[in-house]
Amino acid sequence: MSDLLLKTENNIATIAMNAAPVNALGQPLRAAIYAAVQDALHNDAIAMIVLTSTAKLFCAGADITEFNTERAFASPSLPELCDLIDHARKPVVALINGDALGGGLELALAADYRVLAEHARVGLPEVTLGLIPGAGGTQRLPRFVGAEKALTMIAGGKAISANDAKISGLVDVVLSSSAFECEAEKVCRDFLSKGVPALDCADILVDENAIAADFFQQFLARQLPAQRGGFAARQGVEAVARALSQPLDEGLASEAALFRECETNPQSRALQHLFFSQRAASRIEGVDKNTPVKSLNAVAVIGTGTMGSGIAMCFLSAGLPVILLDSHEEGLARGRATIEQNYQKMLQRGRITEQQCVHCLSLLQTASEYSALADVDLVVEAVFEDMAVKTAVFSALDAACKPGCILASNTSTLDLDAIAACTSRPQDVIGMHFFSPAHVMKLLEIVRGEATSAECLNTVHKLSKRLGKVGVVVGVCYGFVGNRMVAPYSREAFRVLLEGASPAQSDAALTEFGMAMGAVSMADMAGIDVGCMAAEANKHEWQDDSTYQALQFALRERGWLGQKTGRGVYRYEGRLKQASPDVQAIIAAIAHEHAIAPRDLAQAEIADRCILMLINEGAHILQEGIASRPGDIDLIYVHGYGFPAWRGGPMHYADEIGLPTVVSRLQSLCTSLGAYGERWFKPAPLLLRLAEQGASFAQWRQ
Ligand code: COA
Repeated sequence: MSDLLLKTENNIATIAMNAAPVNALGQPLRAAIYAAVQDALHNDAIAMIVLTSTAKLFCAGADITEFNTERAFASPSLPELCDLIDHARKPVVALINGDALGGGLELALAADYRVLAEHARVGLPEVTLGLIPGAGGTQRLPRFVGAEKALTMIAGGKAISANDAKISGLVDVVLSSSAFECEAEKVCRDFLSKGVPALDCADILVDENAIAADFFQQFLARQLPAQRGGFAARQGVEAVARALSQPLDEGLASEAALFRECETNPQSRALQHLFFSQRAASRIEGVDKNTPVKSLNAVAVIGTGTMGSGIAMCFLSAGLPVILLDSHEEGLARGRATIEQNYQKMLQRGRITEQQCVHCLSLLQTASEYSALADVDLVVEAVFEDMAVKTAVFSALDAACKPGCILASNTSTLDLDAIAACTSRPQDVIGMHFFSPAHVMKLLEIVRGEATSAECLNTVHKLSKRLGKVGVVVGVCYGFVGNRMVAPYSREAFRVLLEGASPAQSDAALTEFGMAMGAVSMADMAGIDVGCMAAEANKHEWQDDSTYQALQFALRERGWLGQKTGRGVYRYEGRLKQASPDVQAIIAAIAHEHAIAPRDLAQAEIADRCILMLINEGAHILQEGIASRPGDIDLIYVHGYGFPAWRGGPMHYADEIGLPTVVSRLQSLCTSLGAYGERWFKPAPLLLRLAEQGASFAQWRQ
C-alpha cells in the first residue's frame, strides 16, 4: 500500500499520510510527502495544500528505527521537509485528525494553519528518548505559544490536550472528533475563499517581555536541578533560549547542533533502549501474537489491605467494575475507605475530575462471600504472603468462579505452581505482581506458571496496557525477577554498614548513582519485618553467611520496624529522618562479633557493589530463562525499583561499561573482600561467557 493518499478537489491538494501503524516519518514517507508538496507547489491549479492522515493517529514523529543510522538524516531530512512546508508560497493547512507527536507536530508547526480534532493530543516527547526536537520544534513552537509553554512541553515531554493547544495558540481551530473530516473540509474551503496568506514562521518573533530576564536560569534551577539525568531537557532549555535570541535560520542551526549532542549522549541510548524494550516485552516467548484474548468485563480483588485497595483502583480507573472481597465487614470498610481517600487525594491534586472520581467509585462493590464472584472474568488475590492462606483462597476461588475465569495471585515471592496445583484449572492461574502503591507504580510482573495457558498470558499482558502498566512476563522462582535481584543488592547496601559505612553513606552512594532511594531507606519504608520475612523464606540461599541481614534481624527483635514504628535503621519524626546512635552501636556490636574491622569505604565502592549484584543476579536470571530478555529486566528495575531510566536499567548499564569491566570488578571484589567476597562475588557463568566472547547482553541470543 502506498505511504500517501493524494486527492485534488476544489483547488486543494490533500496529502494524507498512510504509513501504518503510526505514520513514522522514515525516509520513504518523508520523500513521498516532499515530492507531493513540490508537485502541488508547481501545479497552478492548486491554491492550497492540506496535510493529514488516514490513520487514527496524525503522526508519531521521526522513525525511531532510523535513529543512529544514516537513514535518519537521509534526504529529504525532516528539517528539510519542514523548511519546504514553512517556505511554501501557497498556504499549507495541517488537519490534525489524531495525536501529533514529535516530528508529527513539527510538520504541523511548519504549516501555516493547524486544525485539530478535539480528542487529539499534541506534544514533543523527544526528551523521553533522550533527544530534543530536531526539525524546528524548539524554534517554531515558542513562536506560537511563547517561551514558557514551549519549555514546559519540550523539557517535560508531555502531550497536551486539544483544549490546551487552542488556549495556548498552538492551533487555530479545534473541531469535534465525530464530524472532523467534513467540518475540516469546510474550514479549508473557508480559508480558501477568504484568501488566507501563506505565512513564514521566521516573521514571528517570540515575545521576550512575556518572561522574566532570568527565566531560563530559574527554570533550570526549579525543574532541572543538578541531577545527573536530564541531559536532553537541559539542551531543550538552551534551544528554546536561542529561539529568543536568534533569527529562525540561526536558531534552526543551533537546534541541529544541540540535537547532535543529545544523539551521541549515552542517556539517549539508554532511553531508546527502554522504548524498544517496552515494545519487545509485548512479544511473549512461545505465545503467538494472534492468540485469542479473553474478554474481561468484571473483576474481583481479594484482600482489602494497601495492596488490595491499590489493585482495585487500577481496575476502577481503567473503567472495569470491581468486587472487593473480604470475609470481615471491617476489612471491607477499611478497603473502601482507603480507595475513597486515595481518589479524593487525586481529585485535590487535579489528577482526576470530580466526574471521573464519582464514576470510578460507582464501579466499586464489596462482598464477603465467594459466591458473589460467580460471574467475574478475573480475580486478583492480594492476601497475606503465606502459602497456606493463599492456597485456601485459591481453592475457594476454584469452587466459586466460572470456568475460564482467570485466577491471579499478587504473590511477590511464593511458588505460583504450588498455588496453581491446588486448583482444577492451573492453565488459568497466573501471577500479577503489582508494586506498592499499586495504583501509582507502573510495573506489573506477569508471572507465568508451568501450566499457564497462552490465552491467559496474552489476556493479562493486553490488560496491563489497558491499566497503563508496563507488563513484563517472568518465570517462577523465589522473588521472580525484581525481588530476587533486590535481595543481593540490599544485602550489599546493609553489609557495607558492618564494614564501616554509615546508613546515610550507603543511601547516598545509591542516590548519587541515580537510584530514587537508597536501599537502607527503602528497607525502612517497606518494613524491616517484611525484609526479614523475605530473607527467612529464602534462608537456604544464605544460611552459611551469619552476617546476612544481621542488622535487620536485630532491629526486628527490638520492634524497630522502620517508618511505621517511628524507627528502624533511622529515627523518624514525621517525614524527617535522623541517624540513630543506638543503631550505630548495634552495627558496631555485630561487626565486632563477626570480626569485621571498620574501614573507610569510598562512595564508588558502595554503589559498585550494590549495582554489580543486580547485574550478576540478572545474568543468572537470564541464563535460567526466568526473564526472556535483558531489556525485560531493565524495564522491571526502572519501573518498579527506581533505577534511573537515563542509565537504561542494570543490564543496559552493564553493556555501557562493558562486560569485561563488570567481570573484572566482580573478580577484584571476590579477592579483596576475603571469604565474604569469595562467597558472593563470583561472576555468573553467562556473564563470564559473554565477556570472553567480547559480546554484550544486548547481543545475547541474537
Ligand atoms: N517510530 C517508529 N516506530 C514507532 C514509532 C516511531 N516514532 N512510534 C511507534 N512505533 C511503532 C512501535 O514500535 C510499535 O511497533 P511494533 O508493533 O512493531 O512493536 C507500533 O509502532 C505501535 O506502537 P505502540 O506504542 O505499540 O502503539 P500505541 O498505540 O500504544 O502508542 C504511540 C502509539 C505513538 C503513542 C507510541 O508508540 C509512542 O509514544 N511512540 C513514540 C512517539 C515519539 O516519541 N515520537 C518522537 C520520536 S523522536
